[in-house]
Amino acid sequence: MAASESTASTRVRAGGATVRQAKLQDAVNIFELVNSLSGDGTLLRRSYADICENVRDFSVAESESGIFLGCGALHLYGPHLAEVRSIVVKPEAKGQGAGGRLLRALIDEAENQGVLSVCMFTRIPDFFFHFGFRVADRTTLPDKIYKDCQACPRLYACDEVAMVRGPLPRIAVLGPTRIAQPELVKLQVGHIAHPMEESGLIVPEGSGSSVTKR
Ligand SMILES: CC(C)(COP(=O)(O)OP(=O)(O)OC[C@H]1O[C@@H](n2cnc3c(N)ncnc32)[C@H](O)[C@@H]1OP(=O)(O)O)[C@@H](O)C(=O)NCCC(=O)NCCS
Repeated sequence: MAASESTASTRVRAGGATVRQAKLQDAVNIFELVNSLSGDGTLLRRSYADICENVRDFSVAESESGIFLGCGALHLYGPHLAEVRSIVVKPEAKGQGAGGRLLRALIDEAENQGVLSVCMFTRIPDFFFHFGFRVADRTTLPDKIYKDCQACPRLYACDEVAMVRGPLPRIAVLGPTRIAQPELVKLQVGHIAHPMEESGLIVPEGSGSSVTKR
């Protein structure tokens, strides 16, 4: 059932919701549900093409009879950081455990990938507190900022809280898009090392050495 077909008066039993990896056939439901909450900034707007391209990031929750209840995505920045994105449950299925199961599945997926740091920006931190997330300074998450915030119309009026589960990432891999080699941009929060720096291929400025290669 497409998200647009549902109404608040139609109660969907989500108590026995199961969560599975999304398939391309789920993309329309995901697109409609995510964008139904993008107008007020609850979720980032995502194009249909973007959802199809990244459908392997998504998990979906469905009822025992296979009705689509909600979705959530895990974006991998790298071994240092993943992000929960586009997590949402249909209004008529809220409060019955589907959202929690989706979030748990995304956390498990991050752990299966060996990623301990999971972040997101949200207006409802209380939901994420239930699952071990804590509020973080957003400048500790430069990858997220470079991926989404730079192009966001709310850049200077953001009302979202940055949250992290697990350790803060020690490295970052994204930089401003106008710079040709973003991986060489030195990030500002304390010192967040580039992965090549950690491996000894780059020596940070001010350490007495210029860029070195082994
Ligand atoms: C947030 C959302 C996905 C939760 O889904 P849900 O199916 O209603 O959540 P669950 O029923 O699995 O709740 C799990 C737990 O979180 C709690 N919880 C749910 N929504 C909450 C909220 N908005 N604030 C605080 N706690 C919340 C529940 O009470 C429950 O706690 P319990 O285990 O102690 O009983 C859903 O409300 C939603 O789609 N919201 C709109 C989209 C949104 O804001 N997404 C987050 C963007 S970052």
